[in-house]
Amino acid sequence: MSARSGWLAVSTLSAATVCAAGAFDVPAADRAQADLRSVESFAQIADATQRSAALFTEAGKVILHPRCVNCHPATDRPLQGDGGQPHEPPVRRGKYGHGVPALRCATCHTTANYDAVGLPGHSGWRVAPAAMAWEGRSLGQICAQLKDPAKNGGRKLSAIVEHMRDDSLVGWAWAPGAGRRPAPGTQARFGALVEAWVKTGAVCPAP
Ligand code: HEC
Ligand code: HEC
Repeated sequence: MSARSGWLAVSTLSAATVCAAGAFDVPAADRAQADLRSVESFAQIADATQRSAALFTEAGKVILHPRCVNCHPATDRPLQGDGGQPHEPPVRRGKYGHGVPALRCATCHTTANYDAVGLPGHSGWRVAPAAMAWEGRSLGQICAQLKDPAKNGGRKLSAIVEHMRDDSLVGWAWAPGAGRRPAPGTQARFGALVEAWVKTGAVCPAP
């Protein structure tokens, strides 16, 4: 129980520091508009191949965001913070991503954000499988592995679109709780970009 009160103290402190900096004063709707371009704004690119790669590059503002990458680590250990530092305490993936029996994610992460202590939460909180690692990879590399059924959980491209657009664990990135910077735009706008990318041939930007 002593380890638990230790991290509570630390995370309360970091949440307070971030809020004091006033990073969250801009209304959410305005921020969403400015931070992620809409599908329509790519209409002037006549060539479908170029448009497709440009749409994915825009979606990459979300994909490469720490709110996503922290859960798609290259090792067994999730990441934390905007700098993607290794998770403290040093938890491990375990067989299904929920942690190891001695220290499961749900020991700390509950079914919802716990704002009083700056602890994120969701009923499906777990780390992505190793095959879906994004940490340290370029957007072109992530694009290629997203299209590969051997690496993307056997998904067709339509299922990738649905997952990005509708999955509530993905959606957590836009409602990450107090003191945590959300992913740019909205999940709907991001989903539309990914859908338009698939419709234009799912072209990947250069690796
Ligand atoms: C002993 C408690 C504890 C356990 C167990 C734990 N975490 Fe955490 N985790 C935390 C705390 C506290 C934070 C918030 C730290 C911060 O953001 O400064 C956090 C933050 C995170 C973040 C950062 C989210 C973001 O982008 O801001 C991820 C990802 C994460 N945990 C994943 C996991 C996963 C996956 C597991 C299980 C394998 C797990 N954690 C187990 C305490 C824990
Ligand atoms: C709390 C951890 C967590 C967060 C945050 C998270 N993911 Fe994931 N992600 C997972 C897990 C676990 C899986 C595996 C689920 C499955 O296959 O059903 C996954 C799988 C995926 C997949 C399936 C295909 C593949 O190759 O990766 C996509 C796409 C994806 N996530 C996108 C995102 C995006 C985009 C974000 C940020 C907006 C995000 N995720 C944030 C844990 C997370």
